[in-house]
Amino acid sequence: MRSHIVNILAILAPNTLDNLLKKYLEVKKKTDKPEPVLSVDTTGSYCSCEGNKKTYVIKIVDVVVVRACVHNFTWYGREVRHLFVHEKYRRQGWARHINEEIFKLNNVPFFFATVRTDNVPSYTLLKSIGFKTYDAFISKISKQECVFMCYKKEGYLDDRNTVGEIEENL
Ligand SMILES: CC(C)(COP(=O)(O)OP(=O)(O)OC[C@H]1O[C@@H](n2cnc3c(N)ncnc32)[C@H](O)[C@@H]1OP(=O)(O)O)[C@@H](O)C(=O)NCCC(=O)NCCS
Repeated sequence: MRSHIVNILAILAPNTLDNLLKKYLEVKKKTDKPEPVLSVDTTGSYCSCEGNKKTYVIKIVDVVVVRACVHNFTWYGREVRHLFVHEKYRRQGWARHINEEIFKLNNVPFFFATVRTDNVPSYTLLKSIGFKTYDAFISKISKQECVFMCYKKEGYLDDRNTVGEIEENL
């Protein structure tokens, strides 16, 4: 009886090891979180923005977690538009994160945004990252009430630009 068990174990052992290894790799795959990657999209695939605008995208593998466009308004300010976070990734700090990256990457003192007053998530987000509300208006496009908001970048005057750098920023 004992030798039977030993024989059975000897036959099962390689399979059991294989199974254990497979299980381990599956668990590892799930727990090894892929790194998010920030890039500037030049293909126009994630936003139909044209002209003097850049679309920033953060992807995890091939999934676009968040995208935002930055419109070169004037030498002293840029507008953040078309902010969108993938439904599965909301309330995890992605919108805050991409805005903070945009503030770092764009060397201008002011950022502008408009938002519909009924868009509570977006309005609350912009307020929470430091945008101030200036006034309300009725949008020509949506016919809805919107607010104009502005963010002043801290420390901008500390590394005051030369004229050359300002031109580069346009
Ligand atoms: C608005 C939007 C971009 C927020 O993205 P998000 O990644 O979920 O936001 P974050 O996780 O970075 O949230 C940062 C803060 O914003 C505020 N906020 C975000 N979603 C909110 C919601 N549904 N309700 C209330 N406050 C909200 C909170 O203050 C939050 O901080 P907290 O989570 O510590 O409370 C996202 O909901 C979205 O893509 N909506 C659809 C598109 C849209 O309306 N875009 C804006 C066009 S102007």
